[in-house]
Parts: sequence; C-alpha cells; structure tokens
Amino acid sequence: MRIVSIGGGPAGLYFSLLMKKADPGHDITVIERNRADDTFGFGVVFSDATLESFADADRDSYTEITASFAHWDAIDIHYRATVLTSRGHGFAGIARQRLLDILQRRCVDLGVRLEFQTEVGDLATYADADLLVGADGVNSVVRGRHAGEFQPHVDWRPNKFVWLGTTFPFDAFTFLFKESEHGLWRVHAYRYDASTSTFILETTEPTWRRAGLDQADEEQTLAFVERLFADELRGHRLLKNRSFWRSFPTVKNAAWHYKNIVLLGDAAHTAHFSIGSGTKLAIEDAIALARALQRGGEVEKALADYEEDRRPEVERLQRAAQVSLAWFEEMERYHGRLEPIQFAMSLLTRSLRVTHENLKTRDSRFVAEVDRWFAGRAEQQAQVPVVGARTPPPMFTPFRLREMVLSNRVVVSPMCQYSAEDGTPNDWHLVNLGSRAVGGAALVMAEMTDVSREGRITPGCTGMYRPEHQAAWKRIVDFVHAASAARVALQLAHAGRKGSTRRLWEGMDEPLPDGNWPLVSASALPYFPHSQVPKAMDRSDMDTVREQFVRAARMAEQAGFDMLELHMAHGYLLASFISPLTNVRRDEYGGTLENRARYPLEVFDAVRAVWPAAKPMSVKISATDWAEGGLDADDAVGFARRLREHGCDIITVSTGQTVPDQKPVYGRLYQTPFSDRIRHEADVPTMTVGNIASYDDVNSILSAGRADLCVLARGHLYDPYWTRHAAYEQGWDLPWPDQYVSVKGFTPRRA
Ligand SMILES: Cc1cc2nc3c(=O)[nH]c(=O)nc-3n(C[C@H](O)[C@H](O)[C@H](O)COP(=O)(O)OP(=O)(O)OC[C@H]3O[C@@H](n4cnc5c(N)ncnc54)[C@H](O)[C@@H]3O)c2cc1C
Ligand SMILES: Cc1cc2nc3c(=O)[nH]c(=O)nc-3n(C[C@H](O)[C@H](O)[C@H](O)COP(=O)(O)O)c2cc1C
Repeated sequence: MRIVSIGGGPAGLYFSLLMKKADPGHDITVIERNRADDTFGFGVVFSDATLESFADADRDSYTEITASFAHWDAIDIHYRATVLTSRGHGFAGIARQRLLDILQRRCVDLGVRLEFQTEVGDLATYADADLLVGADGVNSVVRGRHAGEFQPHVDWRPNKFVWLGTTFPFDAFTFLFKESEHGLWRVHAYRYDASTSTFILETTEPTWRRAGLDQADEEQTLAFVERLFADELRGHRLLKNRSFWRSFPTVKNAAWHYKNIVLLGDAAHTAHFSIGSGTKLAIEDAIALARALQRGGEVEKALADYEEDRRPEVERLQRAAQVSLAWFEEMERYHGRLEPIQFAMSLLTRSLRVTHENLKTRDSRFVAEVDRWFAGRAEQQAQVPVVGARTPPPMFTPFRLREMVLSNRVVVSPMCQYSAEDGTPNDWHLVNLGSRAVGGAALVMAEMTDVSREGRITPGCTGMYRPEHQAAWKRIVDFVHAASAARVALQLAHAGRKGSTRRLWEGMDEPLPDGNWPLVSASALPYFPHSQVPKAMDRSDMDTVREQFVRAARMAEQAGFDMLELHMAHGYLLASFISPLTNVRRDEYGGTLENRARYPLEVFDAVRAVWPAAKPMSVKISATDWAEGGLDADDAVGFARRLREHGCDIITVSTGQTVPDQKPVYGRLYQTPFSDRIRHEADVPTMTVGNIASYDDVNSILSAGRADLCVLARGHLYDPYWTRHAAYEQGWDLPWPDQYVSVKGFTPRRA
C-alpha cells in the first residue's frame, strides 16, 4: 500500500512506524514542513496507564521513550500561602523533541521515508496514494481542504495561555495560582527531563489585557512572568520557543474519514492541555488506525472501523477536558473562597475522572485529611457532634437547615407516581416513601403535589387541596417519622401549561384524549404545537393560585412535613414565569429577570409567611433551558440570589424540560456544574440532582464543595436501600430498625 502522512508529529510518525513494522512492503512517506530537529513547545506528559498501550504496540520505541522519562507521582498545589500535596498520580514527562527524535529514528530504521521542510498546500500531489493521512495538527490543511466532508467545528476558548519552559526542575506536577494587581494567574508546570520543566501560564483575557500582555513580544512576556513568579522560580530562568499568547481551540469533526483520507490526532480532535492528553490521543489514534488497516479488506471500511472504535473514547475525553478547561476558565469563583483543602479537592476532581475513592487509593492520607476537615465543618454547621471513633465519609455527615438536622447528605428526589385518585395519596405512596425512608436517605421528598385539581399534571398526580389529602399525607409522614430517622419534605407545585396530560407510561406531556381541564401559564403558549393553549394568567388568577399555595402550605404543616419545596423547575407554572421562552408578557411580570421573577417570588413570600420559621424551605429550579434564547446559568445565578434574599434556605438545581426542543448535554453528574456555580456565586446552599449513581460521586461532590446535599431520583427507584448499601460498601455503620437488626450477621454476595 502507498501511504502518505501529511504531518510528522507524534500521530503521523507513530502510525507510519506501526504500518511499516506490520508490513515492510508498504511504501510510506511522512511529509513534514519543519526541519527534523525543529520543535515547538517543551515537554509532554503521559499517565502510567497510557504507557501500557504503547508497550503493546511497539516495544522498541516504548523502551526508548520510557528510558528518557522524568517520572513523578505527586501533584503540588500552591494556593495562597499554602502548598498542598496529593500523591500517587503516576505521570511521566518527556521532551517533545526527544519523543520526536525517537519516533523519527524508529521510522527511518524500519524504512519509512521522511521528507522534512516540505509544506503541503495542494493535496492533488498525493492523489495516487492508497491512503492519505491528515496528521497535520490543530490547523490541519487536510481537514481544511475537505471541510465539506469532515464538517469541522472549532470552539475557541476565551482564556489566554503561553507555553514556556524553565530550568527550574519542579519535582511534582505543579499548579501555581497567584493573584496580582491585574487578576488571577494559573500555571501548569511539570518537569520533563533532569533540568527542564514545561511552564504553561494561563489567565483570563481581561487580566491578560490589564497586564498589557496583548502588546507584549516574547521577551516582554518572559520578563513579566519571571517577575511575577520570582519566588517560585528561585532565580531560575524561563525559556521561550515561539512562546506566543494563544487561545485554545477545541476541535471536533462530524466525520474523521472521507474516501481514502483520514484525520488523526489534533487534526481530528483536541483536548485541553489541563488534562494533558493531546499526545496520548494522537498516539492511541495511530494504534487504532494501524490495527484497523492490518485487519485487511477495503481501506474505506478500515477507516470507518477506526472512527467507530476511537470516537467514543475521544468524546469521553473531550467531555472531561471541557469540564476541566471550564474549571480553569472560571476558577475566580473558587479562589479565595474555598479553604485550601477544599480548593485542592475541587481542582483534583474537576473533570470527574479523579474521584474521592480513587484519590483514596492513590493517597489515603490526603483523603483522610479531607474527610476530617469536612466532618469538622459539618459539625460546626449542624451544631451536633459528629460522633464515633472513625471520621465519617462526607456523605455520612450531618447538615442543618434551620431547626431541621439531617443525619446524612442523601436525599430521595420527588418523583411523580401517577397513582393517586383526585389527588389523594394511598398505600402505594406510603410504601414508596416509607421504604425509601427506611432505606437510609436522610431526607425523602414526596412527589410534585399540586395545589389545586386544575394544577395537576395528570389525573394520577397527588394534591394538597382537599381535607382528605392532609389526612392521607399525615399517615405517610407519621410512618416515616416513626420508622426512620429520615425527615420528609413536600414538593408543592402547579403544572401550568404542562397540565391535563397523560401518565408517564401513557405518553409524557401528551394531552389527555378526554376529560381535560383548562390550563393557565405565564403566557398563552402551548407546550407542543398540538397541546392545549393555556390562558395567560391575569392578576386575579395570580391571586387565586398564590392563595392555593398558601392553603397547601398550611395543610402541609398540619400533616407534619418537615420541609417544603416549591417547584419552580421543568416548565411548570412558576417556572413558566422565569423562562423567557415561556414568558413573553409585556407587563411587570415579563421582560427582565427582575420582572419574570416577580410572581414566583411573590408566591414564595406568601408561603414563607405561613410556613413555620423553624422549618426550612427549598426551591427547585431549572438552571438552563438548554435552548437558544432560553434561561442560562447567569440568569439562574441571578434568580438564586433573589431566592436567598427572600429567605430560601437551599436550592435544588435541576435543568431543562421547559421546551420540547431542548438540547441537553447528558452525562454523569451533568447538572452538578450548575449547582457548583450557584452555590459559589449566589452564596446559597444547594442540592444537586441528575445522574448521580455512586457513593463515590456523592463523596466527591460534597468534599469538593459542589453541593451541600446529593439528590438521587432513579437511583432510588432502582434501590430504595441505596444509602444503606452505600454505607455497607464504605464500612459505615448505619443503624437498622429494630425489626431488621438480624441483617447485621448477613453478608451480601453478588454471585
Ligand atoms: C500548551 C500546550 C500544552 C500541551 N501539553 C501537552 C501535554 O502535556 N501532553 C500531551 O500529551 N499533549 C500536550 N499538548 C498537545 C500536543 O502538543 C498535541 O496534542 C499533539 O502533539 C498532537 O499530535 P499530532 O501529531 O496530532 O499533531 P502535532 O504534534 O501538532 O503534529 C502535526 C505536524 O504536522 C506538521 N504540519 C502541519 N501542517 C503541515 C503542512 N501543511 N505541511 C507539512 N506539515 C505540516 C506540523 O509541523 C507538525 O509537526 C499540548 C499542547 C499545547 C498547545
Ligand atoms: C418517574 C419520575 C418522576 C419524576 N417526578 C418529579 C417530580 O415530581 N418533581 C420533580 O421535581 N422532579 C421529578 N422528576 C425528576 C427527578 O426528581 C430528577 O430531577 C431527575 O430524574 C434527575 O435525577 P436522576 O438522574 O437521579 O434520576 C421525576 C423523575 C422520574 C424518573
């Protein structure tokens, strides 16, 4: 096969050597515009795990690469006056030039032709190749020439960074954070040989401009950075190598192959340097492509197999990189606010790939310190002793909201059961909530319960509008209090324009075929085009609904609930005022956020006024509509701030479900970044919900300060005893009810 690789970076070289090694009959040329010994940048870093795949693919280069490594296992975090160290991370650094030398030599030994100082512009020159590899980096010409087929998307990130070197031999992977009169600076530094380290400086564009660096040449940049980090560099110099200020582009392509042309490495995708995976991805691509081609058959089919094989892993890494880069872009939020140990947890767990549990495996002393600190904080906050000889994992620490003290941080999310008759909860609801309370969660929240018959979503929804509702709920609340240590909350709501619809399993949000009731909403906009058109509420409707909320709150107090949550999320009535997509009013209840928040806050105030001062109230919000022109995270912070000022004790941060054409980005803990942001920027406690599935997630979220409580919905449908099982797995002793004490002698087994 005649193969031409445009680009002699790690991707092009590694792919070429693997192909030539597999079949010396291949005619392989690498075209590179630079000279053989020209390189830009300093060192690259690999994790220990990555290296294993290199060993399998080509032991010769692996042996040489690893012989050149600078190894380290600690991460040092310089934050304010403190340095925190977390060990056990297993990284290795190598000079980019050294890596390229090894790969070039290996290529030459195997018989790959390397053509340096050849700039490719016209791909037609290589039209007779059987395979054309676009390994030409982030600004790929191959990608550009076939933009119609590859459909690239380049997201230029706002922060500015510069890639420098230094003779200071950092002995750990080092993060430096430093404030100057211009703003906050972040450094990612690591050693890549005995005497040299990479030193990447990053900051926001405003800080960069304030420091005058938009006008600085390389020398001036160097002088500025040496002055700023004089203490840390201890007299060592910085090194430059085309060290210009840049913005990071996140590159994605809808397709990575077209006919006999394929993209590899940075040409196909980039992942932010803060997760240090660009070279790893490039080499792993090369391994996968070589493997697909070596299986034989049509080239086009092999290229399709390569893409199918690599895309999920690359996308997973790009998602992690996105969260990581956002952390660095937005870290002004944490700097100075978080205590050093929590700041370190926030940094280390930012991309969700490192968690409380795997940090424990890497460095149990560090995590023990985190847990001790967290338990101490919890003790102060809850004003109850954190008892016992052992420090509890974060999820088993108490939390106080007014006079209500929760014994742990796990909450059962409100989940409609669609099983009531004219709003009256029954035995199903008793068993549903009762078993989850016995299952160990500290707070169980009764499902969305509507303040009027017309306020229901479906005919099966629970209500709090008839006297028998109060009695039926009281039976459930009394059971929870008698049978468990759990507290119980009621979520009050009005369905608004999403009302008069079918039960979940009959067609969610679809209008009832008959027996409909009239709807109200902020504006006269139907949910689906075929949904009922709601009436835009007038002032008298607003008074009526507000008083219905007040009546329901009084009944909830009589029923003995410990806490109330007002449902202002998911496009229901109160949410319909907040989102500009569902509120197009021109009066004082529409337009600005101030106006859109007016009615929901009026309802909140009215309910708060009758709800006992000792008992807390929460509000559930959708922090984004996931839709063009909709509510975004900035609005959510603004609204959360107002809720706090009105006496809301904690906010449950959900997202979406406002409009049917939303485009949510799902994934593990996908809503937690919104909770994190609201908690820090609106300075209010939060509950996070959404795809939380493990106790490790809960401990990671809490210890990093991303929320105060963790709420699980589907996890609790799957396993009502979720908290008990999490306790067992962590060796934590959660007392069983007397009726079940015999379980203590039982050891669960999986197979
Ligand atoms: C600040 C920063 C820090 C980074 N840190 C790390 C790290 O710690 N670890 C890590 O693994 N990765 C890191 N990377 C990423 C890493 O540099 C790349 O992801 C990796 O080199 C990708 O390999 P590649 O072969 O796809 O592309 P490249 O290494 O960019 O190679 C592409 C080659 O193609 C050549 N070329 C381009 N156009 C043409 C043309 N028209 N004609 C001929 N030749 C052409 C270029 O000269 C280049 O040699 C970092 C990147 C940046 C910007
Ligand atoms: C069957 C079901 C019913 C739900 N009903 C409600 C509800 O009544 N009120 C509410 O705020 N959220 C409701 N939700 C949303 C959940 O509370 C939660 O926000 C969402 O499922 C994400 O959490 P999870 O990933 O842990 O399931 C419901 C979810 C499910 C699966």
